[in-house]
Amino acid sequence: MATTTLLPQEARRLEGKVAVITGGAGGIGESIARLFSKHGAKVIIADIRDDLGKLVCKDLGAETASFVHCDVSIESDVENAIATAVDKFGKLDIMVNNAAISDPPKANILDNDKADFERVISVNLTGVFLGTKHAARAMIPSRSGSIINVGSVSSSVGGVASHAYTSSKHAVVGLTRNVAAELGQYGIRVNCVSPYFILTPLTKEFFKVDESSGVRVYSNLDGVSLQEEDVAKAAVYLGSDESKYVSGQNLGVDGGFTTINPAFGLFARA
Ligand SMILES: NC(=O)c1ccc[n+]([C@@H]2O[C@H](COP(=O)([O-])OP(=O)(O)OC[C@H]3O[C@@H](n4cnc5c(N)ncnc54)[C@H](O)[C@@H]3O)[C@@H](O)[C@H]2O)c1
Repeated sequence: MATTTLLPQEARRLEGKVAVITGGAGGIGESIARLFSKHGAKVIIADIRDDLGKLVCKDLGAETASFVHCDVSIESDVENAIATAVDKFGKLDIMVNNAAISDPPKANILDNDKADFERVISVNLTGVFLGTKHAARAMIPSRSGSIINVGSVSSSVGGVASHAYTSSKHAVVGLTRNVAAELGQYGIRVNCVSPYFILTPLTKEFFKVDESSGVRVYSNLDGVSLQEEDVAKAAVYLGSDESKYVSGQNLGVDGGFTTINPAFGLFARA
């Protein structure tokens, strides 16, 4: 029995759309999958964590969601995930390239391993490239579609995360812009959504924190804290027809973190 309730028809912003969400078994991706389905979308969760992914799909209901095992760094897996969406639901409207990893936090570049660097790039960048390529193959014939890449504040500023992660996330924005330039001729939009810090398995592992750490990160916005669903809401906007003329953008969901320097100036808060 599905536990995610559909919104009333008039409130559903993704009614009739079909989406593939990589890394949808947990964290921000799961939140996107849940909110998309509330808004009437059919979702394919493509992840390497089969048990968790299947649980989320069971919760959403078999009519609405399907799990497919997919390592985004393996081209045949990505191709299969998109083919599954088309086979099961008839088309692909929205591709969310969300899956990402980080390497171990090491404060000295001399300790950084090439293998770790390449592993991060293969998931965070090559994975987005493959997701975009195969989504485009499915979307071009219908001359429409929305590709949403999940970036990060590390897509536009340095110093927050590792060299590999930051490089991969900057590159995702470059790829977003380049593909937006190419796919505009087919009516396909390509955008990035870039969150600030949220406590998820990825950040717990990287920053060595958990719920009990009482973690406090700098925020420019007082009185609110960033939740996974806030990122999902931005993805709903980018996936819906409300953003029909928005392409090639990097939408920060960061309370202004990447555009404000709090360390110096009239409004310094450091
Ligand atoms: N949590 C944050 O503070 C934060 C901030 C900025 C950006 N982001 C970005 O948000 C996205 C989601 O991150 P999250 O925090 O929810 O992380 P998470 O670790 O909770 O979830 C990532 C998901 O990706 C899956 N995954 C990992 N490698 C994969 C692979 N090779 N193929 C397919 N799936 C794979 C994992 O199994 C997991 O379900 C990522 O792109 C991340 O870089 C997160």
